[in-house]
Parts: sequence; C-alpha cells; structure tokens
Amino acid sequence: MENANQIKNIVKEKYGEIAKAQGEKSCCGSSKVVDYTMFQDSYDNLEGHVQDADLGLGCGLPTEVAGIKTGDTVLDLGCGAGNDVFVARTLVGNDGKVIGLDMTEDMIELAEKNNRKLGFGNVEFRLGEIEKMPVEDDSIDVVISNCVLNLVPDKEKSFAEIYRVLKSGAHFCVSDIVIEGELNEELKKSAEMYAGCVAGAIQKDEYLGIIEKAGFKNVDVAKSKTITLPDHLLQKYLDDESLADYKNREIGIFSITVKAEK
Ligand SMILES: C[S@@+](CC[C@H](N)C(=O)[O-])C[C@H]1O[C@@H](n2cnc3c(N)ncnc32)[C@H](O)[C@@H]1O
Repeated sequence: MENANQIKNIVKEKYGEIAKAQGEKSCCGSSKVVDYTMFQDSYDNLEGHVQDADLGLGCGLPTEVAGIKTGDTVLDLGCGAGNDVFVARTLVGNDGKVIGLDMTEDMIELAEKNNRKLGFGNVEFRLGEIEKMPVEDDSIDVVISNCVLNLVPDKEKSFAEIYRVLKSGAHFCVSDIVIEGELNEELKKSAEMYAGCVAGAIQKDEYLGIIEKAGFKNVDVAKSKTITLPDHLLQKYLDDESLADYKNREIGIFSITVKAEK
C-alpha cells in the first residue's frame, strides 16, 4: 500500500494547492496547461449552484440524474469546496441533510467557509477518506460523487464503503472518468498532462464490474460523454488504425454518470 499512500499524498497536495488558490479554474490539475473545462458540464441552470464553491473540478452533473428527494440524507464523496453539496441541499430542502466528505483539509475549510456564508444548518463537511468513511452504516439515502473515484487507488474498497453506508434499497450516482479500449500509455500520460484526471482512470468494464462485485444491483450508465483530445495529441501517439478506432469511439476517454442500487 506504499504506492497507494504516495498517490494519495500527491492528490492531497494537488487539491490543497487548488483550494488555497480558490477560484482559479484549473480542474483536476494544478498546472495552468491543464484545461478542465473539457470535463465539467455547465452548472448555470442548476438551482442551488454557488459560484464560490465551483472550482471547475467536476466531470458531470451527478445531481441531475441522482433522483434526490426532499428529506433525503445525501453524502457527496470528494466534495471539494461543496459544489454538488449545495445543489443537493436545494433538492433535499430544510428537512433533509447533506454531508460532504473530503480528505484534503484545505478543501474542507473552503467548503465550511462557503457554508458559513450560506448559513445552512443541515449541511455538514467531514474530513476523511472514501476508503474508510467516517459515516455510519445504513444511514444514507443517496451517495453522489463528481470526478473523484478515478483518483482513489483502491476502487474496490471505495465501492464497498459506499455499499456499507447506504440504507437498504438506497442508491448512488457518480460521475467519473473511465477508459474504453487499449489506450497507449504515452497517450494516457499526455492526456493526463493535457486534461488531468486520466492517470488513475480504469477501463469502463472493470469499473462497472467492481460496482457489481460490491453487491450493487441495477447498474445503469445514465450518461456518457467523450473527452475530446486535440488531433495533434492523438496523431503523435496513435497509428492510423488506432486513430480511426479512437475517432469511431471504440477507444477513448469518457466521462460517465453511473447509478446503482443497494
Ligand atoms: C477532482 S476534485 C472534485 C471536487 C468536487 N467533487 C467538485 O466537483 O468540485 C477531487 C476531490 O476529491 C478529493 N479526494 C480525492 N481522493 C480522495 C479520497 N481518497 N478520500 C476523500 N477525498 C478524496 C480531493 O481532495 C478533491 O477535493
């Protein structure tokens, strides 16, 4: 687990820097060459969107298809500055509760600062790791997460934890980055440099397999979006045949929003 701990420390450092430089739009990556806008969908039409909480770090809109109802208790994994937490707060209303979990102290501080300005008594941020959540068994109606699980080295443990905290019959809805087909390692590295959030991404089938193995039923990919890489990057690393496969979407990098029930 030495390697996993090293990866997590790098992730923590990177997101700590982003939180400190709050407001600087540079999704998943700490470098300005990283263009996160290619991942995140627009939040403009989402009720409850709070500009200060939106660091441009997501890769989908999990709250849009999560089926969150008034009065629900929602848990957002890797909540960052609280972007999806505040949207979920609008959906659960005064009678529900939203908990944001993140392992990066600076993110939690930023999220708490945002909540102090909004004054929500039923929003709580907790410092902790997804692989060992400080959350009670069978206590959550909907787990959401946006562009986070690709960063977690132990995805099996993450989904096992999601299963543990959900009530019986409850569900999760997460947006995440996955890969389909054999993407050559150099292209994967370049895509990481270019767009971030790709290095830890696994094959879509493997990802869905882990979810099923954790015990979830009715696994459904509600949305899928191709992450478009520029031609100059693709041409540098792919031969003609692979490039054709890439263009036909048989291989590539995707943002998916996936749901499943306990
Ligand atoms: C790409 S950002 C997404 C933030 C937020 N979901 C959003 O859309 O604005 C990833 C976040 O996940 C957190 N994170 C990564 N790995 C984690 C883990 N193992 N446990 C808890 N939080 C984690 C990071 O600290 C960071 O805030």
